[in-house]
Amino acid sequence: MTGNAVSIPLQSRFRDAMAGVCSPVAVVTSRDGDRPHGTTVSAFMSLSMEPPMIAVALDHSSDLLAAVRAHGRFGVNVLAAPQHEIAGAFARKGAAKFDGVPWTDSGGVPKLAEVAGWVACEVTDLVVGGDHTVLFGTVVEAEVGVDRPLTYFARTFGTHLPHEAPLTQGAS
Ligand SMILES: Cc1cc2nc3c(=O)[nH]c(=O)nc-3n(C[C@H](O)[C@H](O)[C@H](O)COP(=O)(O)O)c2cc1C
Repeated sequence: MTGNAVSIPLQSRFRDAMAGVCSPVAVVTSRDGDRPHGTTVSAFMSLSMEPPMIAVALDHSSDLLAAVRAHGRFGVNVLAAPQHEIAGAFARKGAAKFDGVPWTDSGGVPKLAEVAGWVACEVTDLVVGGDHTVLFGTVVEAEVGVDRPLTYFARTFGTHLPHEAPLTQGAS
């Protein structure tokens, strides 16, 4: 565990340590004027229940961050296991990310089709954390999808599988 601690820079070791954390994957969306905008994000979490709130961390260089600041709303499309190609497409820069991707407007922000979960928010606060800004959003819509979630672990997309369910009492 400590053998490489001196020779490898802290930032690389931190990045590698975080690659060992299994994360959910979402496309966070907003509007840039009339155009939909979206970005692949794994740094999001449920923050509060009273009121219902969510937190999302965006790099200061993110074009989505600028769109969210202007629009004041964002959507969190929790991706389903088969949607790894959408995750790859929305992890790029540019205006073409929505090409060929079905979506509708919901709560004033773009909602992608067939996601594992959906939450729309109003921005309540923006807090700087190093080179990222954390969006605090108050939830205005929430829906459950049908599929397993897409996950990201060891720089690879996958999904969650439960441990084998224990036999119920009395089962043979
Ligand atoms: C699995 C995965 C997770 C990511 N998570 C984040 C994240 O939490 N926050 C972030 O700012 N960028 C994240 N990114 C990188 C952005 O998707 C990428 O920088 C994107 O090009 C930004 O686009 P934009 O400038 O249009 O917002 C992630 C990328 C991948 C592939």
